[in-house]
Amino acid sequence: MKRLLEVLQASADYLAGKGVDHPRLTAEQLMSHVLRCPRLQLYLRFEVSLDESQLAPLRLAIKRLGAGEPLQYVLGDTEFMGHRFKVDPRALIPRPETEELVDRVLNCTSLWAGPSPVLADVGTGSGCIVISLALARPEARYLAIDASPAAIELAGENAALHKTVSIDFRVGDLLTGVADGSLDAVIANLPYIPTHDCTTLPRHIREHEPLSALDGGEDGLSVIRRLASAAWAGLKPRGHLFLEIGFDQGGRVVKCLENLGFEAVVVHPDLGGRDRMVEAHKPG
Ligand SMILES: C[S@@+](CC[C@H](N)C(=O)[O-])C[C@H]1O[C@@H](n2cnc3c(N)ncnc32)[C@H](O)[C@@H]1O
Repeated sequence: MKRLLEVLQASADYLAGKGVDHPRLTAEQLMSHVLRCPRLQLYLRFEVSLDESQLAPLRLAIKRLGAGEPLQYVLGDTEFMGHRFKVDPRALIPRPETEELVDRVLNCTSLWAGPSPVLADVGTGSGCIVISLALARPEARYLAIDASPAAIELAGENAALHKTVSIDFRVGDLLTGVADGSLDAVIANLPYIPTHDCTTLPRHIREHEPLSALDGGEDGLSVIRRLASAAWAGLKPRGHLFLEIGFDQGGRVVKCLENLGFEAVVVHPDLGGRDRMVEAHKPG
């Protein structure tokens, strides 16, 4: 038996020694997950004794964190758009910036004006984007595509968890096999990190998240450029395109989309003020 405060302090010290960012907060998040109590309630339980059945999973998890695994993979889930999603190394961990992309889609009034729009989420990963949309707008129909069979498997498990039935999950390259001119919107958070920069990413990303979810080729835009052409073919007239991009890619993506003929091409910053999304539509 050990007191909670003692375990927390020892865990934070261990993580600090292993170079984990925010060691105390990480230890608290882990402990709140293992003990199934809100993090702030830990402060009211500092004197509680933990038995071996509680200490054993904590030890195991602290070891994985110390070895550089991301907290979300260790916990096995994360929150996105107010929903819990299962996460593991089969797919990228959903990021808060991507919630802003989902908000943009949900706030696009002309997209939702029709009775049952058809939307494609390309590079669906854990399925966080498409499932959040399907939960908010169950009347629409959705396609969710990923080149990784493992990611599609995980996305399917998340869809089952949330009982979203309106999503057709497919393994494939971008929009291959999707009928031309059939889509009201294409949403994509595809890999956009230049290959060279992937080698300098923090260790918990570089060594644990799938490289195929991050590496966007030499200038970071090789997948996005191909998607732009595929979206041009896949979208209906006045169909919408929503892309997540890197902070320094706005100008190049705007040029690429305008060259293809997209209209109203706009770059939006994220809450941190950095360019993060591009929105455009096909002419009518
Ligand atoms: C940055 S992750 C995004 C995952 C998820 N949409 C999210 O926002 O958390 C990019 C995803 O695109 C997928 N991907 C990469 N190249 C692709 C391609 N050519 N066609 C379809 N999916 C692709 C990867 O497997 C990965 O799951």
